[in-house]
Amino acid sequence: MQKTTFSREQSFPLNAWYAVAWDVELKRALLPRTICSRPLVLYRKADGTAVALEDACWHRLLPLSKGWLNGDDVTCGYHGLVFNADGRCVFMPSQETINPSACVRSYPIVEKHRFVWVWLGDPALADPAKVPDLHWNDDPEWAGDGQLIYLKCDYRLVVDNLMDLTHETFVHAGSIGNQAVAEAPFDVTHTENHATVTRWMLNIDPPPFWAAQLGKPGKVDRWQIIHFEPPCTIAIDVGVAPAGTGAPEGNRSQGVNGFVLNTITPETETSCHYFWAFCRNYRLKDQRATTELREGVARIFQQDEDVLEAQQRAMVANPGREFYNLNIDAGAIWARRLIDNMLAEEGYLVPAAAGD
Ligand code: FES
Ligand SMILES: [Fe+2]
Repeated sequence: MQKTTFSREQSFPLNAWYAVAWDVELKRALLPRTICSRPLVLYRKADGTAVALEDACWHRLLPLSKGWLNGDDVTCGYHGLVFNADGRCVFMPSQETINPSACVRSYPIVEKHRFVWVWLGDPALADPAKVPDLHWNDDPEWAGDGQLIYLKCDYRLVVDNLMDLTHETFVHAGSIGNQAVAEAPFDVTHTENHATVTRWMLNIDPPPFWAAQLGKPGKVDRWQIIHFEPPCTIAIDVGVAPAGTGAPEGNRSQGVNGFVLNTITPETETSCHYFWAFCRNYRLKDQRATTELREGVARIFQQDEDVLEAQQRAMVANPGREFYNLNIDAGAIWARRLIDNMLAEEGYLVPAAAGD
């Protein structure tokens, strides 16, 4: 195995499954994608199995993604070395004996919940059972779709954003935000590997997005229950029901329920691949609703993108400045603690200005 060198100060753990692509993105072609500062080349074998290799040829480091697929192998586009799906060199031009050390790293890879996940850390720890739970994305009782957003910001800024939906009032006024969100109290609970923020807004006027989804007039009980799984997966249980029909007590039968699924894979310290989907448990066969919801949520997230990239630029322009924490940041603080625990376990220094 090749020696990997990196700064001791790193904001992302490596012993974790990271979403690297939507299932539909992976084809019989070479797809370059960098995650956690490691350039990868991804493709599917003829039988459909996904492959992730280090995207740097053993010989002179040309990215293998500049070469081509050759059956289930990859031919380097510079001097023609061929590597198989395990990363082992199987052909060298003008040479009969292949140097046994000639290989590139091959990473554990699994497909689950419509995403392709890669494990960059210790392969012995790569247990597929540890893939984050985003089952709503391919559960027949739910319907939906999503997108991939490329963002020029630290992935943890997206985590902060999703762990505190107070920002909806100010960033998303006119769609999902209204005054009730910022005014409603919330609870934060946590375990060793999970943090939850629960917010109920009872007997409120629904914001326009939810009024349209419910399709019934009158006041509603609205919920947002945010589940964080470190380092970067957040499933948000959201919905509304006509006020007083028992939703807070567990009877959501009169309401509409969605899950906003988010997993934010670091690309570098200051950029990330943000995979999201919105799944609903109503109008399941309505393909038009699926498309309209995906486009509608994408428009809402565009507002977050502007904020998050501007925030990252301001952090770069103000080195050493720390964040202040308010009550509304309680969920984000717990998320960052759980990330920091993973970093500490892998021996990384927790970077400064992390909002602690
Ligand atoms: S750099 Fe790949 S074969 Fe030479
Ligand atoms: Fe937002």
